[in-house]
Amino acid sequence: MPAEFTMTVTVAPATTLEGVVRVPGDKSISHRYAMFAALAEGVTRITHYAPGNDCQSTLRCLEQLGTVVSRHTAFDRDTGAEVPTVQIVGRGLRGLQSPSADLDCGNSGSTLRMLAGILAAHPFTSVLTGDVSLRRRPMMRVVTPLAEMGADVTSFNGRPPVRVTGGNLHPITYHPDTPSAQVKTAVLLAGLQTAGVTTFEEPAQTRDHTERALRALGAKVDVQGHVIRITGEQPLTGRPLAVPGDPSSAAFWACAAAALPGSFIELRDVGLNPSRTAIFEVLRRFGADVDIQVERTDAEEPVGRVRVRHKQLNRLELTPAEVPGLIDELPVLAALATHGGELRVTGAQELRAKESDRITALINGLRALGADADELPDGFHVRGSRRLLGGEADAADDHRLAMAFAVAGLGGLEPTIIRGADAVNVSYPGFFDVLDALRT
Ligand code: S3P
Repeated sequence: MPAEFTMTVTVAPATTLEGVVRVPGDKSISHRYAMFAALAEGVTRITHYAPGNDCQSTLRCLEQLGTVVSRHTAFDRDTGAEVPTVQIVGRGLRGLQSPSADLDCGNSGSTLRMLAGILAAHPFTSVLTGDVSLRRRPMMRVVTPLAEMGADVTSFNGRPPVRVTGGNLHPITYHPDTPSAQVKTAVLLAGLQTAGVTTFEEPAQTRDHTERALRALGAKVDVQGHVIRITGEQPLTGRPLAVPGDPSSAAFWACAAAALPGSFIELRDVGLNPSRTAIFEVLRRFGADVDIQVERTDAEEPVGRVRVRHKQLNRLELTPAEVPGLIDELPVLAALATHGGELRVTGAQELRAKESDRITALINGLRALGADADELPDGFHVRGSRRLLGGEADAADDHRLAMAFAVAGLGGLEPTIIRGADAVNVSYPGFFDVLDALRT
């Protein structure tokens, strides 16, 4: 299959990194705020909306479904910077319009799976599809519960395109096999638009931005441990929302600071929702000096700053139970382990269902740079026993791999060439400029 991303970027080795970074708005929260705003009554203004391609795909799909979206920049009084802002005119529950063409979700699994939940309650047919990478990803995990609720949902051998003909849903109690915040969101959104109580029982806790955002927009969501219940037909009310910085993007700088002796990076205005901060706790266990301070709460989401300094890295073993809380950060933790210490991860077979097969493509890329690394059926083992040589690594159409290889390459003897480096635009446009600005 042809590669989706074709640009090459060369990352030179670095001695130390130093500086203050404000990462772009959180991708997970941006998708949710935009979708929930479209289902709300009234207008929602979202500042610090994530600038990456994935969240733009969500906006375009919502426009195809009849939502009026305007894009601006707004002046941020605290930082003096212009920040990406979108304004969405809500259409109310079940208020979207039939699209005249297929909905192109680009590279974004979140867009496809969460929109499927919304569309399951709408009495028209929509077809959700995306790029080469997205068309390889498993979709039965949303098809099954939405069909059980009464929607007519089909996929192509369990993958996109997904065709949804919605309407006449009934509530269900659902226990998925795999922990997934996207599937939880799809079921809760279908449940929100269905009379009665829909229940979702998670096998393990996943990020809870949906629960918090629905509350911030005026709905009641009942959470008892891993059991989430929503009563249908509660209206959402539009309001101003500010998206915190994305901790999964911040993780690249936190790991880069932890990797290079003498480095110090401060991350400001970063989301510190406890369902996302495992990366910072794990970095501490790995040996880094990490200081976390919650400073405020925006629409139920804690926000603050994180400071990271290098210290000698240890041997770290992550257990299967820790994987759901770190799923997006495992590639950069592997990159960090190439700088020293040792990392073994198991119970992470879900990584094979991400934007790439994130076990094979990650270990292939790190080994191509000279790493002492092995693939396991459900994880990987990386030993920082020798310095990387540098060389060429293929990002495999995967934004998080492109950025992980950049962090690994900082420790190379020679430069690292990343093929398909423009994949960073999926979640972090400007990533390589920030990296250059942090070099001392
Ligand atoms: C996300 C959930 C996770 C994560 C993805 C974003 C979300 O996926 O990997 O990057 O916003 O809900 P799964 O739900 O497939 O675990």
